[in-house]
Amino acid sequence: IDELVDEGVGGKRVFVRADLNVPLSGTTITDDGRIRAVVPTIAKLAEAGAKVIVASHLGRPKGAPDPQFSLAPIAARLGELLGTQVAFATDTVGESARATVDSLTDGSVALLENLRFNPGETSKDDAERGAFADQLAALAELYVGDGFGAVHRKHASVYDLPARLPHAAGLLIATEVAVLRKLTDEVSRPYAVVLGGAKVSDKLGVIDHLLERADRILIGGGMVYTFLKAQGHEVGNSLLQEDQIPAVTEYLERAKAKGVEFVLPVDVVAAPSFPDLKNPVDTNPLVVGVDAIPADVLGLDIGPESRKLFASKLADAATVFWNGPMGVFEHPDYAEGTRAIAQALIDSPLPPAGGPPAFTVVGGGDSAAAVRILGFDENAFGHISTGGGASLEYLEGKTLPGLAALED
Ligand code: 3PG
Repeated sequence: IDELVDEGVGGKRVFVRADLNVPLSGTTITDDGRIRAVVPTIAKLAEAGAKVIVASHLGRPKGAPDPQFSLAPIAARLGELLGTQVAFATDTVGESARATVDSLTDGSVALLENLRFNPGETSKDDAERGAFADQLAALAELYVGDGFGAVHRKHASVYDLPARLPHAAGLLIATEVAVLRKLTDEVSRPYAVVLGGAKVSDKLGVIDHLLERADRILIGGGMVYTFLKAQGHEVGNSLLQEDQIPAVTEYLERAKAKGVEFVLPVDVVAAPSFPDLKNPVDTNPLVVGVDAIPADVLGLDIGPESRKLFASKLADAATVFWNGPMGVFEHPDYAEGTRAIAQALIDSPLPPAGGPPAFTVVGGGDSAAAVRILGFDENAFGHISTGGGASLEYLEGKTLPGLAALED
């Protein structure tokens, strides 16, 4: 983006593909981290006199307008953060978008409606995606890719549009990639990875990759019950992906052979049913050892002994990557595991004598949101990534379409 600005963007229409896919409760934004993360790029372009056209997806609408996924509340928040009015177009490539873009003055900012209201955005058909990218390209003269959270998607605005306009990477993408490089090419050891979240099937690729690179892998969240079952424990009504047991068993064996330490919880916090997150009353949870999970409960967080165990495994790590909450952190009865990991990342990493301080990265939409929702200071972490799937796929060593498109 520096080169682009140096060449002169004054008076030019610059399309900024952001990832403003933030958690909402109705029209209230519950975590604005992704909006704040793209502000420096937008501000830089606006200060240089560009007419900035920001666009993003939100949620997974089905290729047609759907009011619950409107970006209107995000336009208001973006305006507050930029300290300027952000014009909002009620469509992406239609009359409203064209009129809004036409009315932009130098240094002003507009936001388009949800890109995924158009089926061409996510289409698997190259021609359909290309046709939508053509329409988007007609709105602008330059393209800046800064939606790091979406670079793993081969979508029209991420992959096809940069091929149609002179393009550059934004400040956020540059920072994210520099950080992820430190987790792949230049890792300081011991390297500990904490993985959580609901489904083990979403994490197979990254576990596979990390088995070759990490020194310790700590597992929590809903995915842990498949590991516990693979080790012969009964898991009651906990989330279980039976079909993944062979893969998980293979990982546990490979880890042993390679000397990678796999750390699983020794106790869990459980309850007879999933808690009501809209009305989070006290649920009287039960703390049980992993070898004594009753048949009629489901595990919803890691337990107190596991919190201590996990913190001890992070205490001397030089590099920590954490993706995925340890439990249902949205309910106070099941937030302690996630809170303990966040705290361990802040407290534990003591710089080895004379060495650099430990490098801690929180990756993933959910874990990044959890850290902020639980009230931690984001500056206490080395980096909080805006990418969930994107950072995992980067760590898997995959080619990310949105980065490849910006490279040439
Ligand atoms: C994310 O939240 O990981 C990104 O915004 C991508 O969203 P998607 O998984 O719906 O493509």
